[in-house]
Amino acid sequence: MTGVVVLISGSGSNLQQLLDAAASGDLPAPIAAVISNRADAHGLERARRSGVPAIALPHGNYANREAYDAALQQEIDAHKPALVVLAGFMRILSEGFVQHYAGRMLNIHPSLLPAYRGLHTHQRVLAAGDSEHGCSVHFVTPDLDAGPLVMQARIPVLPDDTEHSLAARVQREEHRIYPRVIRWFLQGRLTLTQGVPRFDGRPLKEPVTV
Ligand code: GAR
Repeated sequence: MTGVVVLISGSGSNLQQLLDAAASGDLPAPIAAVISNRADAHGLERARRSGVPAIALPHGNYANREAYDAALQQEIDAHKPALVVLAGFMRILSEGFVQHYAGRMLNIHPSLLPAYRGLHTHQRVLAAGDSEHGCSVHFVTPDLDAGPLVMQARIPVLPDDTEHSLAARVQREEHRIYPRVIRWFLQGRLTLTQGVPRFDGRPLKEPVTV
């Protein structure tokens, strides 16, 4: 198993960082394919431009979540990836699907988990009057946005911040941390053993904060 399959639903700015890293030799494995549940996702165009197979798998064509996830799993496994990367893939995943990729599926989420799982994180941070915000990379487990944390980046919330400005600053951090974690995984430095993330064999009791 080599390479990475990236799942997206939208713009694909995080995907772009990975495509660029792969092109410049900064990732030790290729991006084998990009799959989107939305045929109009801009990220598919980004993949095509980089010569990476871009596959649209619209969820509307399937009767239920299990049927969709089975088709998605088949499509992913055809590429025999070492790692599955969720990069703005906006779907809940069924338990069987997640178990199939246990220890080899990562997600990035726009909050300092465990705070603000789910949607509208920037809006919720502003409504709560928080002074700090950020993003988290974690291994995926069946509970939504609750898997073991690997890395977080923190930013201050500024007095004149809006949802838009916060989203932009958080995304800049995402672009910094996600390729780094993915490189570690592909180098064999990051693993998940018995539910515990390890870096160079040492358990990560706290996420690495940058
Ligand atoms: C990213 O900000 C990512 O954290 C978020 O979607 C965005 C995708 O942007 N993911 C989630 O909210 C998942 N719960 P991109 O398509 O430009 O990479």
